[in-house]
Amino acid sequence: MINKLVMATNNKNKLREARQILSPLGIEVLSQQEAGVDIEPVEDGQTFEENALIKAEAIYNAVKVPVIADDSGLCVDALGGRPSVHSARYAPKGQECDKILTEMKDVPEDKRTAYFECCIVYIDSEGTESMTGKCYGTIAYAQKGTDGFGYDPIFLYGDRTLAEMSPDEKNSISHRGEAMKKLYEYLEKKKGE
Ligand code: IMP
Repeated sequence: MINKLVMATNNKNKLREARQILSPLGIEVLSQQEAGVDIEPVEDGQTFEENALIKAEAIYNAVKVPVIADDSGLCVDALGGRPSVHSARYAPKGQECDKILTEMKDVPEDKRTAYFECCIVYIDSEGTESMTGKCYGTIAYAQKGTDGFGYDPIFLYGDRTLAEMSPDEKNSISHRGEAMKKLYEYLEKKKGE
């Protein structure tokens, strides 16, 4: 019976979201810090799933209670899928959108497709389970909107960027929202077994 798990992060937004989603299942979500784990494994995987697995296994080996870890990023078709797993380190914080816009300045509208991906890995003594969510859209020609973070101001979903959406609206269509929903369904089933 799972009633507690550790999330491999100290990011307040990720923790708040996971707590909100998993509390109806009676599952308490602890941060890495609350679990007393001070390790930051090197995320050198080639895919989001590999990176989430690296984090999940490292934390699980330290705490031996169920762990969830996630990895996410932006994949732009015209850039050969970049920045992908390098999304967080692609440019200094706050400059990532401008860097993409510069790289894409000559790319025509019909070639500006992109997607966000999020992979969440759950691990316990029985093994691991991966849940992936994707959000498909296009890259705008300029930044728009003030909500959100990272690449939100240049990612168009329909005719609005993710930075023009409320957090609830973004969660309902986002890669992370989809992966979280799959995690909820997986844990709900597991609790019932
Ligand atoms: P991580 O999953 O915390 O390692 O973050 C990956 C990076 O991908 C973030 O630093 C952002 O730059 C980018 N990213 C992931 N998800 C989103 C999103 O929903 N909006 C904007 N940027 C995102």
